[in-house]
Amino acid sequence: MSVHTQSSRMTTSKIRQMKVNGEKITMLTSYDFTLASLVDEAGIDMMLVGDSASNVVCGNQYTLPITVDEMIFLTKGVVRAAQHALVVCDMPFGSYQVNEEDGVRNAIRILKESGCDAVKLEGGEEILPTIRHIIQAGVPVCGHLGLTPQSVNQFGGYGLRAKEEAEAAKLLHDAKLLDEAGCFCIVLEKIPADLAKRVTEAVSCPTIGIGAGNATDGQVLVLHDMLGLNQGFKPKFLRQFAHLADEVKNAVGEYAKAVKESSFPSEEESY
Ligand code: KIV
Repeated sequence: MSVHTQSSRMTTSKIRQMKVNGEKITMLTSYDFTLASLVDEAGIDMMLVGDSASNVVCGNQYTLPITVDEMIFLTKGVVRAAQHALVVCDMPFGSYQVNEEDGVRNAIRILKESGCDAVKLEGGEEILPTIRHIIQAGVPVCGHLGLTPQSVNQFGGYGLRAKEEAEAAKLLHDAKLLDEAGCFCIVLEKIPADLAKRVTEAVSCPTIGIGAGNATDGQVLVLHDMLGLNQGFKPKFLRQFAHLADEVKNAVGEYAKAVKESSFPSEEESY
């Protein structure tokens, strides 16, 4: 096991510096200690405890049902695994939309109880006062623009965002506001690549893309999607770097067969 000193841990200022240095930033979601340990040991810069846990971990259709308590529970395990990576926890739906005070209280609670390094909120100008207050309270914020899954009911689906110039102009405006407010990075989800490039050039903080082309300062994917664990989900932007669903099913099948035919456990595997 590798030993990481405190100084080898990622910080928000190191993430910012990577943009200045022209070094691409890597981010993956993580939801539990075991997989997060592997992600961390592989040298990923940031682990996101995404509210996609609602889908991936809990089997919900949407991200909306997951709660602050559930996010804190999952994030604690990821934080225990993080020797190197910066851990970002998603603020779930309903935890920051009511008013600024509620948002700040929940952000502080998430940071304090989970031990994460930063929180992520979806939205632009409409939540800017809340973002400003959270940052002023000492909680680093990652913004999230474009396809924001907590607004699925407003959008009516998960299609490409900001295709039209009016929405693209608003997104660019929102990104500049988040940057000025002090967000240490901004996730850009499912928007045209040329718009993501414009945003990346217009803001001083790093942009992290998912389905936003190759010009962003970094990339993020849902771990279970890129490992090929999530069968049947294969949008154009997703590259599967492994096909673990088949591996898992084969291993489970082999185990079941061995139990049924009484070849497991063997004498060597018994006390
Ligand atoms: O919840 C999540 O996994 C996310 C990523 C898709 C960026 O927000």
